[in-house]
Amino acid sequence: MTEPFETYSLEQLRDRSSVKWRMFEPDVLPLWVAEMDAPPVPAVVDVLTHALRAGDLGYAPLDTSYAESFAGVAGRRWGWTPDVARTVLAADVLTGVREVLLAATAPGEGVLLPTPVYHPLVDMPGLIGRRLVTCPLTAHGRLDLAAIESGLADPSVRVLLLCSPHNPTGVVHTADELSAVAALAEARGVLVVVDEIHALLVRDGVRFTPWLSVSVAGVVVTSASKAYNMAAIKAAIVLVGEGSAPLLDRLPPVLAWGASHIGIQAHRAAWDEGDAWIDAVNANITANIGHLAELLSTRLPTVGYSGQDSTYLAWLDCRRLGLGDDPTSTFREQGRVALTPGLEFGPGGEGHVRVNVACSRAVLADAVDRMASVLA
Ligand SMILES: Cc1ncc(COP(=O)(O)O)c(C=O)c1O
Repeated sequence: MTEPFETYSLEQLRDRSSVKWRMFEPDVLPLWVAEMDAPPVPAVVDVLTHALRAGDLGYAPLDTSYAESFAGVAGRRWGWTPDVARTVLAADVLTGVREVLLAATAPGEGVLLPTPVYHPLVDMPGLIGRRLVTCPLTAHGRLDLAAIESGLADPSVRVLLLCSPHNPTGVVHTADELSAVAALAEARGVLVVVDEIHALLVRDGVRFTPWLSVSVAGVVVTSASKAYNMAAIKAAIVLVGEGSAPLLDRLPPVLAWGASHIGIQAHRAAWDEGDAWIDAVNANITANIGHLAELLSTRLPTVGYSGQDSTYLAWLDCRRLGLGDDPTSTFREQGRVALTPGLEFGPGGEGHVRVNVACSRAVLADAVDRMASVLA
């Protein structure tokens, strides 16, 4: 079987009209935004084709079918199943997170966020009139319990927002780390909100721990869109822990209507029938992570990178290259390769770049060549 990221030629990919391929000039190699160069899940193609042919393009029924498909994959992969009764649909993960923050905090109250982290989460508190309070990760990109504890001591903080697994460091938080965070948050009466969109993208032998399997309180927001490469087809789910159930009544009814009917059908097909697809994608990511580490060790040995346990987004420490806080501008302007600036991910992102490795080996090798060329 062809590896997923070896399926399409660069010419075929450049024909795609998504933002990855249209943001920069055609001679720039795009390894920035989180889209994979993979073919779609076959069951998704079937279900969408059927819906389009049948004209089944109305509103989604507000039932628990989406939650049940998620519960199925969670049970198979993690041996844990959520209570589908305490779930609400949403258009996408960011909308779900935003509505939870609005419901759980008053204007001016604080949201504690360990950084560097997925940049829209950094921007969100300020955009909705809340106060962003950041705390650092450890030097290895892991949750820093002491830093979280001192961040929680800020009396304005009402929510701790986590990314699990963590984008961009690719760290998978352990059950012990999450339990310790839960205890700290409970002691302060702070609600923990967890973005688990990357949860299915973990390396073999690494155990992902769902937040609600270690804590009765808190809120998780997730979707099939990231792991199965369907950002264009919107749907997501908000899962509320038993200890935080009153929050359900504070979420606006309009939230659930945001999930599109075809989005729900497509995501359900992926969760229900996409196990072989996700296994193949994870194997390809693992191979590419090894490939990237090898390429960097020969072509750019001063770049800090030692692999990762999750996601297809590699976090490279480029501070020793002497390209300043944002090396991506030099890489793009001189090397013609587009990467995501670490600066966007908040404090701690200086001098780092994020590289999307969900591409062919030839593209990855070309990207590293282009990065190395700016130093020649
Ligand atoms: C951690 C994280 N959360 C959320 C999103 C966006 O999800 P959605 O399109 O469902 O809002 C991404 C996209 O890359 C992400 O990496």
